[in-house]
Amino acid sequence: MESLGNSYKACVIGASGAIGAAMVEHLRNDHACQHVYALHRHSDPAIDLSDEQSIIRCADFLREHGPFQLIIVASGVLHTEGFMPEKKLGDLNLHQMQETFAINTFGPAMVLAYFVPLLDKQRSIFAFLSAKVGSIGDNRLGGWYSYRASKAALNMLVKTASIEVKRSNPEALLVAVHPGTVQSKLSQPFAKKSGAGPQARPAQLASQEILAVLDQLKADESGSFVAYNGEHLPW
Ligand SMILES: NC(=O)c1ccc[n+]([C@@H]2O[C@H](COP(=O)([O-])OP(=O)(O)OC[C@H]3O[C@@H](n4cnc5c(N)ncnc54)[C@H](OP(=O)(O)O)[C@@H]3O)[C@@H](O)[C@H]2O)c1
Repeated sequence: MESLGNSYKACVIGASGAIGAAMVEHLRNDHACQHVYALHRHSDPAIDLSDEQSIIRCADFLREHGPFQLIIVASGVLHTEGFMPEKKLGDLNLHQMQETFAINTFGPAMVLAYFVPLLDKQRSIFAFLSAKVGSIGDNRLGGWYSYRASKAALNMLVKTASIEVKRSNPEALLVAVHPGTVQSKLSQPFAKKSGAGPQARPAQLASQEILAVLDQLKADESGSFVAYNGEHLPW
């Protein structure tokens, strides 16, 4: 990351996931990165997005080591052993909606609240992995109610926070990022076996592309929804 100086500090939340782990690996191999804190449900300290106290504990721990020039939230859920994305209204159920929103929306909102004060007042980037299917303007296929809505709401939280943060920390960039289709546990049940359409990319490639896009963003692009290829996506 050339835009963050030659001894920047980074934190990746969801570092046990495919994209999160690849990002940690990239950052560890970047000589300009002084240290990367890799947080997940089994790290020390651990972060569970459905447990506000664990988010507070991690923010308290990181405060000792800040300020941070790069924070990435790479966690998320689409399906579990208990549910798959809804295909129709009749599939909607409160448990799935609550669990999806807890991990994709409410947890990241708490991370926003507790981690924004850790950002450097010089240039800093706070990125949240979202999904293009969370774009309302781009929704052509329907379905996946909980996941789409949880990511659309995440996008709104990032945009809203970007407006507030601009006043106190004009150099901070808050962005929602679409990683593209990436090989992972999350995408595995939907991976294209063959034929037309985008194939899932390796997480190492996606991570490299996303970090390159973040590196190029200017402070006045805070509050954007960007894709791994640099495209600005419609809300
Ligand atoms: N893969 C794709 O094609 C694709 C496409 C569009 C958007 N995205 C987005 O990209 C992000 C990363 O996805 P991925 O493909 O890397 O998926 P993944 O490999 O399944 O990783 C998901 C991550 O989320 C973490 N997580 C789940 N529940 C959590 C909780 N309660 N508290 C803390 N962490 C929790 C997982 O932790 P554990 O290891 O503890 O389970 C894991 O680190 C997600 O936001 C996803 O929506 C992915």
